[in-house]
Amino acid sequence: MCGIVGYIGKNEAKPILLDGLKRMEYRGYDSAGIAVLEGTNISTCKKEGKLSNLLSALESQEITGRVGIGHTRWATHGQPNDINAHPHSDCRDEIFIIHNGIIENFHELREKLKKHHELTTETDTEVLAHLIEDEMTEGVLLEQAVQQALSHVVGAYGIAVVSSKDPEKIVAARLGSPLVLGIIGEGEFIIASDPTAIIPYTREVVYLDEGEIVTVTPKGYDIRTLENITVTKDVTKIDWDVAQAEKQGYDHFLLKEIMEQPEVIHNGIRGRLIPEEGVAHLGGFLQKEEEWRKIDRITIVACGTASFAAKIGATMIEEYAGVPTRVEIGSEFRYKKPVLDDRTGVIVVSQSGETADTIASLREAKRHGSLTFGIVNVVGSTIAREVDSGAYIHAGPEISVASTKAFVGMVNIFALVTIALGRQREMSLVTGQRIAKELTDIPKLMDQVLALDKQIAKIAKKYYALDHAFYMGRKYNEPIAYEGALKIKEISYLHAEGYAAGEFKHGAIALIDDRFFSVFIAPQDSVYEKNLSNIQEVRARGGKVIAVTTEGNTDMENFADDVIYIPKTLEMLTPLLSVIPLQLFAYHVAKLRDCDIDQPRNLAKSVTVE
Ligand code: G6P
Repeated sequence: MCGIVGYIGKNEAKPILLDGLKRMEYRGYDSAGIAVLEGTNISTCKKEGKLSNLLSALESQEITGRVGIGHTRWATHGQPNDINAHPHSDCRDEIFIIHNGIIENFHELREKLKKHHELTTETDTEVLAHLIEDEMTEGVLLEQAVQQALSHVVGAYGIAVVSSKDPEKIVAARLGSPLVLGIIGEGEFIIASDPTAIIPYTREVVYLDEGEIVTVTPKGYDIRTLENITVTKDVTKIDWDVAQAEKQGYDHFLLKEIMEQPEVIHNGIRGRLIPEEGVAHLGGFLQKEEEWRKIDRITIVACGTASFAAKIGATMIEEYAGVPTRVEIGSEFRYKKPVLDDRTGVIVVSQSGETADTIASLREAKRHGSLTFGIVNVVGSTIAREVDSGAYIHAGPEISVASTKAFVGMVNIFALVTIALGRQREMSLVTGQRIAKELTDIPKLMDQVLALDKQIAKIAKKYYALDHAFYMGRKYNEPIAYEGALKIKEISYLHAEGYAAGEFKHGAIALIDDRFFSVFIAPQDSVYEKNLSNIQEVRARGGKVIAVTTEGNTDMENFADDVIYIPKTLEMLTPLLSVIPLQLFAYHVAKLRDCDIDQPRNLAKSVTVE
């Protein structure tokens, strides 16, 4: 995820900014840049790729000054290259801005601004610089201009701005993307999106809240709301060390990423879902809307966790859009003789966008003339570049090897694709509205499931020493059984198999003994009664059962040894909730088994070989 750092004080800004960017490297990024003010002169340098590229460029460029801002960018709009790297500036290079987050109405703003501004990048951030430029008329202070400009913006942001027209000042604001002000000493401040950049300089901080804007000068700082009401805030002391700060206080990136899942859903639907109209505005889909209308079947290709998200997607598309859809794993698809033509849509799903088997499958599909669509997390990755169009997941960098938040991000996009395809076909307005409404509610329901962490940790204590597990589910939750089993295998090395619950009796049931436990994903949906029969088959043979079911269904306590309740939602969206207890369970089992959770043995985050 992008990183923001700003410094104002007695010392040279450049080394402090670079140090801050270095400390935020762990978050993942694809370009970096700084802007430093000396009097009314602003120098800037920005480079694609790792910080070392920026450092090399800075060797031949003298940059001095005691006020500055720096940024590491994780691309969301536009390729990761020098031009799209932050800071971005206005037409006259008088205002420089860095930004984390997504401006939802950037297309609309861009169209308006284009009439009298020169826009040179593909980013949403650049529009902010020009909006501020418009407001920065004679006698207007930078903070006033920023405040006015932000009133036109819909979306999420953490920003920091400097200007040669109002130097000796940093203005920063937050809405949906964190910012912390560090007080180093008299007239010396550091601002950052991540406390890791601040801790080496000070532990005295002020956390900005949503909708607050701070103006920092050598004389002090002033915090107001976006409506210009002054706010007084407490200074807090950070008591984390650097390693903890990187993980925002969590013991592992995996747990941090599990906890970020509600935000991933927000980011994925932001600006794309119009609940009142029951439609999904996916830019990449709309670009090829007419071609998609002609598609009469779909093949989805993916590997690992992404292939389980694909299975859920296929069930959604068939049920709600009526388009026959199948899923192939990349390593198989590439060597079969796929029956593809120009009426087959091929959707490729990948967190990294670099998985070799998925790339090869995409190229094969293109050779057959199929229309391709990517569901990808990493912007500018190979798959993102090679598909005809696509939708980014917007999950931010996933650092832990085992995938969690990217998975829910993929399922989220599939729900949007289902609405988009469905509304082109037979899906009624009411059904579109219903899915959109339920999807909008998912983040807050996810929060409720995440609050079960302690209960799940207790359950993990009962089972972690067993050798084998079966994970079972049906329909939308059959892929969750596969994903739950994969997660526990990956991070805890406990042997687990995912199974379609109804298939278990055809053989695998022979394995049940006291070294086994079974996890049933059995929300109260259209297959609940069927699941219940399967649970009884296991119990009748002395098998231990953990069940994930819908809140209020206390009847389940008569059938299972342990019950985890998830809130009710639309059946097609249950996987977004039911996967969370399984992720948390795997995490706690792995912790009890003393495993290397973020970097399990033998695994790679991105498999770029066959
Ligand atoms: C590797 C990772 C898995 C991941 C799979 C697909 O095997 O260890 O966690 O699900 O690749 O990765 P992708 O980046 O294409 O989603």
